[in-house]
Amino acid sequence: GQTIFKSKLTDLSQKFDSQDYLKTNYAFDSGTVAEDEILKFNLKNLFETFSSGVRGDVLRNTGPGPTVYQLLSACEAFREIIASDHLQQNPQEVKKWLRKEPGAYDWSPAMHGRRRRPISKGQSRRLLKWDANQPHPPGPAQVPPVDCVLTLLALECACHDVDAYRAAGRGLVSLLKPGGHLVTAVALHTQHYMVGAKKFFGLHLEKETVEKALQEAGCQVLRCRNTPVSYSEAHCINEGICFVVARKSPGA
Ligand SMILES: C[S@@+](CC[C@H](N)C(=O)[O-])C[C@H]1O[C@@H](n2cnc3c(N)ncnc32)[C@H](O)[C@@H]1O
Repeated sequence: GQTIFKSKLTDLSQKFDSQDYLKTNYAFDSGTVAEDEILKFNLKNLFETFSSGVRGDVLRNTGPGPTVYQLLSACEAFREIIASDHLQQNPQEVKKWLRKEPGAYDWSPAMHGRRRRPISKGQSRRLLKWDANQPHPPGPAQVPPVDCVLTLLALECACHDVDAYRAAGRGLVSLLKPGGHLVTAVALHTQHYMVGAKKFFGLHLEKETVEKALQEAGCQVLRCRNTPVSYSEAHCINEGICFVVARKSPGA
């Protein structure tokens, strides 16, 4: 187990600065090599996933933070994308980009000349509040079961222990139609991460724990890819990233 000095960690809700987060992790070629490698690993896996049969009507992107890179391939494979995050400031940052406001983040290096924006103002994109630790995420009452749930680098920040992680995994799987896909990337063996000068909690997860949690939640793991690349030590303490595609069993 790990020892966490909670008093030194920052409360997420008020202190997560979306722009600092973007500058640290998504600076592309002008940033750190490790962060750029991790982005490329995720973009490659997302492309492979969403161009090889994971498609459908509605995708729910839980914990997107202030980023849009995760939807570049998904937007070609789904008619509607519903995003839900824990923090108000994150969708506001994305809306700035959508409206091309001054100071909006520049995602063009990740778009590789694509003209189509992953989310358009016209596309029906609902924003729901989502707390990974609530037993019942906004679900069937507001949104019928969906074809895909996409959650990248979020649960290991939201869940304070492995039991909470398993419960959050069950919550996400409950949002899926039988046969729907859960696509997730997890920073493994995380201890904490920095946003600007502020330190936030990260859960230490093994690859096997991630796979087992999804299986116990009623999914079959279709693919699990690893990279040994870790974040720069000044930004996050972790060891490797895994990218998992799982499918909710037809009977689950
Ligand atoms: C490290 S950021 C990842 C952001 C983005 N998905 C990415 O790939 O860069 C962690 C995200 O987890 C979200 N988060 C933290 N605690 C949460 C909770 N209890 N419920 C839902 N989301 C939470 C934060 O709002 C933040 O967007």
